[in-house]
Amino acid sequence: MPYLIYGLNLPLEPALESLFCPAYFRIDVSNCSSLGFACEACRVFCNERRLDREYEIYKSTEQEACWQEDLDLPRKELLAAVASEVTVCTKCPLWKTRKNAVPGEGSARSKIMFVGEAPGHSEDAQGRPFVGAAGKFLDELLSEIGAPRENVFITNVVKCRPPRNRAPKSSEVQTCTPYLDRQTRILEPKLIATLGNYATAYVFSKAKLPFSGIALVHGKPHVATILSMKVIVFPMFHPATVLYNPKYKTVLRQNFQSLKDEVERALHSRKI
Ligand code: URA
Ligand code: SF4
Repeated sequence: MPYLIYGLNLPLEPALESLFCPAYFRIDVSNCSSLGFACEACRVFCNERRLDREYEIYKSTEQEACWQEDLDLPRKELLAAVASEVTVCTKCPLWKTRKNAVPGEGSARSKIMFVGEAPGHSEDAQGRPFVGAAGKFLDELLSEIGAPRENVFITNVVKCRPPRNRAPKSSEVQTCTPYLDRQTRILEPKLIATLGNYATAYVFSKAKLPFSGIALVHGKPHVATILSMKVIVFPMFHPATVLYNPKYKTVLRQNFQSLKDEVERALHSRKI
């Protein structure tokens, strides 16, 4: 059965079922034709199909405000759909040694995304990101800038714990990052804060920015285009690597203060 999305007749391909979220199948065809994209799912779908031109036309119409108001529920559902895929994922060998996959968590309305490296022991045990010693420090840093963790979205480059906390292999990063990319597309963050070398290397590569180590770029905003979205990438040291080093702890605290200023600029003075 063909589905009408923003005036386009698209065949419903069986392959889409595995590619796309359940929300897609709830699209009300009549809404789509009159209101442009009926929900976030349609919009992401059209982007996926490289129908960017239609999206641009749609965005320039007066219906944008209505589209934004409608976002909440679908965004939450789309993130939940990604999370449920991650939970049972067996795409790379890390699934064999994990207790729990760690998809990420936080507010579906957040315009700020924190990206770490990979789950550690506590995260693997609980299935939640940054809940061990590094996580406690991250919570502290977040509260110092007036941003409770539930107001932001926190995730990792790789969603399952590498054995003995070894660094993720590039094949694992390559296999897992489509999940991070989908989360990024769904959230459409204004700012991505990368924690440590791995997250920064990945996000910089996505933005086609040169990267030669966190020490050279930390604490500075980088304007970038990622997945066709304009974002500020804000690299910082990883809380775990500075945890027992007072000097670097201070640097990370300062990074968070600069992050706060940057967020206020990016969100036009709205609170995080
Ligand atoms: N370190 C990370 O990079 N991510 C976590 O979730 C926890 C520790
Ligand atoms: Fe799947 Fe990523 Fe876990 Fe590998 S690390 S099994 S790709 S979720």
